[in-house]
Amino acid sequence: MDTKKIAVLVGSLRKDSFTRKVAHSMIELAPPGLDMEIVEIRDLPLYNQDDETEHPSAAFTEFRERIGQADGVLFCTPEYNRSVPGALKNAIDVGSRPYGKAAFAGKPCAVVSVSPGALGGFGANHHLRQMLPFLDMPCMPAPEAYVGMVAGKYDGDRLVDDSSRAFFQTFIDTFAAWVERHAK
Ligand code: FNR
Repeated sequence: MDTKKIAVLVGSLRKDSFTRKVAHSMIELAPPGLDMEIVEIRDLPLYNQDDETEHPSAAFTEFRERIGQADGVLFCTPEYNRSVPGALKNAIDVGSRPYGKAAFAGKPCAVVSVSPGALGGFGANHHLRQMLPFLDMPCMPAPEAYVGMVAGKYDGDRLVDDSSRAFFQTFIDTFAAWVERHAK
């Protein structure tokens, strides 16, 4: 079983982001078969189809190459107005083009939504899932990860909630098997 490279996309740009904390927990708990790394999205310019020339911006090219080199993608998203934040949507749009050469195409993925609220970002999670068939990304159906009431699960950067840790472990182990099964 080869090690599989996973690009982790974090939908929050906030310094003390809970979503980033959850992404780090997933990285820490990942089994040895997964090599997970956050691919930053904060410096991507807003996608403009006019810029889709033979020489797109270096930021676009670098992002597409990083996604292209990955065997799978883990999307970690907060919920903004019951959907995904614009920064994450922008990154998905950038990685989805040029048409027919999407960096995301065929990569197995999973979705984790995070919120200080009780609903765990359900709306964002499912808006994100709606994009995945169009991107030709096989998305792990279960377990679903709606990480609600997240503020109480961390002391600073430290995950202090044992039941969440157990759930994250199951989630990431199942994702490793999903990637193994579906990676090209
Ligand atoms: C929010 N927040 C929020 N929370 C939620 O559960 N459902 C929602 O629809 C929204 N909508 C929303 C819109 C905007 C513009 C902001 C700035 C915030 C609150 C949000 O969950 C909270 O700020 C989180 O802490 C954001 O995630 P990070 O940055 O901690 O990862």
